[in-house]
Amino acid sequence: MPRVLLLGGTTEAAAMARALAEAGVDAIYSYAGRTESPVPQPLPVRVGGFGGVEGLAAHLTDESITHVIDATHPFAAQMSRNAVEACAATGIPMIALEREPWAAVKGDRWTHVPDLPGAVAALGEAPRRVFLAIGRQNLNAFDNAPQHHYLLRLVDPPTEPLALPRAEAVIARGPFTVEGDLALLQAQRIEVIVAKNAGGVGAEAKLVAARELGLPVILIDRPLVPKRQVARSVEAVMAWLNG
Ligand SMILES: NC(=O)c1ccc[n+]([C@@H]2O[C@H](COP(=O)([O-])OP(=O)(O)OC[C@H]3O[C@@H](n4cnc5c(N)ncnc54)[C@H](OP(=O)(O)O)[C@@H]3O)[C@@H](O)[C@H]2O)c1
Repeated sequence: MPRVLLLGGTTEAAAMARALAEAGVDAIYSYAGRTESPVPQPLPVRVGGFGGVEGLAAHLTDESITHVIDATHPFAAQMSRNAVEACAATGIPMIALEREPWAAVKGDRWTHVPDLPGAVAALGEAPRRVFLAIGRQNLNAFDNAPQHHYLLRLVDPPTEPLALPRAEAVIARGPFTVEGDLALLQAQRIEVIVAKNAGGVGAEAKLVAARELGLPVILIDRPLVPKRQVARSVEAVMAWLNG
């Protein structure tokens, strides 16, 4: 009988959890513990880091895990690297449920940048009203561009004042709608969006809204993760599990 560790924290991981639960698969859903009240899952949940590659390898052995599904966010590269290494060390099969990156279509005004410093540089010197849709972590990358007005969208209210002098936060949890994001961008008079190329549907609405409004988007490329087996759908992961 398989016993699965599902590395989560995404809309895709929630869909994976539903499929595993419906199929009656013995599985544990793992959250990093970044948000105050994680979305409930139809599987037993554990919360918190494992303690690097060694900690994860020990966890896999202690919990008699037979399969690992990495359904973390494409920018959670450290977790994905650790999973590849821990699975290689323990000989446990692993697959990543990985979304296709977003690709521009007609009407998109995207500038691709390799990383956060690239996004800061692409904003330029003149003050702009920026929708900084990168979550709570890594905001300090924008510390040396304090001239811009930043709109942040965070899952939890900030517990301390934002370090950026001209920043405000809206508190909301995805998935988001095009109507909602159109209203937000217009109400906030946003001039440019900074986003990670996450892919998937949960965070796509802002890009569709930007297209409709003719707004430019600075899109941060995904970080590199080691080569691993990848599935593009929940069904493909279930087939792998049953194969
Ligand atoms: N990065 C994003 O933009 C983003 C966006 C939406 C959701 N998320 C979700 O938020 C979580 C954290 O993302 P991150 O970018 O901070 O990750 P990260 O930088 O790759 O991971 C840093 C450390 O956090 C722990 N960790 C990460 N994901 C975990 C999980 N699912 N279960 C248990 N421990 C986990 C691990 O700690 P140890 O080394 O101690 O094991 C990992 O080494 C992920 O689960 C991801 O799916 C991230």
